[in-house]
Amino acid sequence: MSVHKNVKKVTTHTLQEMKSEGEKISMLTGYDFSMARIIDEAGIDVILVGDSASNVMAGHETTLPITLDQMIYHASSVVRAVNRSLVVVDMPFGSYQGNSLEALSSAIKIMKESGGHAIKMEGGQEILESTQRILTAGIPVMGHLGLTPQSIYKFGTYVVRAKEEEEASRLIDDAKALEEAGCFAIVLEKIPAELAKKVAAMLTIPVIGIGAGGGVDGQVLVVHDMLGINNEFNPRFLRKYNNLHEQMLHSFQDYIQDVRSGDFPNENEKY
Ligand code: KIV
Repeated sequence: MSVHKNVKKVTTHTLQEMKSEGEKISMLTGYDFSMARIIDEAGIDVILVGDSASNVMAGHETTLPITLDQMIYHASSVVRAVNRSLVVVDMPFGSYQGNSLEALSSAIKIMKESGGHAIKMEGGQEILESTQRILTAGIPVMGHLGLTPQSIYKFGTYVVRAKEEEEASRLIDDAKALEEAGCFAIVLEKIPAELAKKVAAMLTIPVIGIGAGGGVDGQVLVVHDMLGINNEFNPRFLRKYNNLHEQMLHSFQDYIQDVRSGDFPNENEKY
C-alpha cells in the first residue's frame, strides 16, 4: 500500500514562508498510521507525534512515563502514513534534560529509527545547550514554552502560565534565545493571548499556539480532543469538531446488539 504520491512536501522552509506571507499554519497531533493517513490527506501542514501519546494512547496521567522507543514506535507509524505533512517528534521526558550529549544521541535515534523530519523539546534557556548541539547535527528543532507538561510536578497544575509579569518576561527571553539558537518554530501552550501575540510579532520564526489565542502564526490541537473522543477533557481553548465518543459508543453498542441477536453476520456477509 504505497502512499508516496507526487505532492509538494511541507518543510521547515515552507513554514517560514507561510509566516512571511501571513498564512496560518495548521498542526495536529498524530500517533498511528491510520489516523495520520487521514490527517495528512486532509492537508494538514504539520503532524506532531506528541508525547501526549502517553495520555491519549497509553492512558497515563502525565506525559512523563513514555519512553524514547515508544515515541519512535508512534513516530515511525506516522511517517509511513504521511505523504505531504512535516512530521515533528517530541523528545520524551528524560531523553534530553541536563545532558546535551544524551540529548543529541536521543535526537539522532529518533531521526534514524522513525524517519521523522524534526524534533520538539520543552523548555527555554535551561535546554539551550542541548538545542544548539542537536542543531549542529542538522536536525531541525521546534521549541515549546508556556505550559510544558513534562514539568507538571514543578508547576503543580495545568493552569494558564505566564500571567504574572516576571514569568511573562522570562518566557519572552526564552523565546528569543530559542530563535537565536536556530529553532525553526516554537509552540506556546496555554498562555495569555496578548503575550502570545507579542511573542509572535517579536520573532521571525513561526509561533504555533495551543490555548494561546489567535494572534500567533498557527494552531495545534491534540487530535483525540478535537475529535471529541475523550469527553472528559473540556478546556476553554478546545474546539471540538466532532463527538466521536458518542458516535463510537453507539457503533460498538449496535455491533454488540447485532452479534447477540444473531443479526450479524447475515446471508450477504458470509462465504
Ligand atoms: O504532546 C503534545 O501533544 C504537545 C502539544 C500539546 C503541543 O506537545
